[in-house]
Amino acid sequence: MRVIITKDYDEMSKEAARIIAKQIKEKPDSVIGFATGGTPLGTYKELIRMHKEGGLDFSKITTFNLDEYYGLGPDHPQSYHYYMFENLFNHVNVDPKKIHIPDGLAKDVEAFCKKYEEEIKKAGGIDLQILGIGRDGHIAFNEPGSSLASRTRLVALAEETIKDNARFFEKEEDVPRYALSMGVGTILEAKKILLLASGESKADAVAALIEGPVTSQVTASALQLHPDVTVIIDEAAASKLKRKSYYKFVDKMYRMLEEKKSL
Ligand code: PGA
Repeated sequence: MRVIITKDYDEMSKEAARIIAKQIKEKPDSVIGFATGGTPLGTYKELIRMHKEGGLDFSKITTFNLDEYYGLGPDHPQSYHYYMFENLFNHVNVDPKKIHIPDGLAKDVEAFCKKYEEEIKKAGGIDLQILGIGRDGHIAFNEPGSSLASRTRLVALAEETIKDNARFFEKEEDVPRYALSMGVGTILEAKKILLLASGESKADAVAALIEGPVTSQVTASALQLHPDVTVIIDEAAASKLKRKSYYKFVDKMYRMLEEKKSL
């Protein structure tokens, strides 16, 4: 696991956008897994800037989103469909036919989830999956107790998540209690994973993700089993890590190798 510690949210966002842009430039028909929430907003802003000012070309990519609230249609302002178009897709040249977001209004949920998994496979698998992390250590909506082998399915949101997400709704009662979410097993099949976290409220979850035991009580900890994970966190989110200076040293080594400088 590569851990990149940035001074603040802005630097985290720029670093993440740089990695996503590199992926798209190296493989223009990349399959990118997108995440929603507050954390990736700065990254998406930077990607839009790179598209508008630097011509970063999204036309050949295929996208899969991690999750969607169950019961919310694409026009609902709090749906993740709406979020993705509002905050990224409407501002870049992604092909609408290549966008996949779980359907919060799916009538046959089981059939829909099965089809979603099949579509990921048909696209050749996810090349780069972007993730946030919840205060309870979830990735996508894989709440504590989710099987580390779970696949796309209907999930029940944890109390903590409902409270955290209430800030996007008028009142807490309006937050949907269920969602369709890729499973931990689905996420672990992505070729590369990029997890972002910012702020002190995420410090415990980040410490558990990087330095805790692998446990379904912190589903993000399953990423320790994946061979190509980059975690980008700001100083506040990194504040509870025990081996911070070692991670910084390793990061420096990676950068020197990338720039082909001798160690
Ligand atoms: P946030 O959500 O980016 O809004 O903090 C992250 C998550 O719950 O995965």
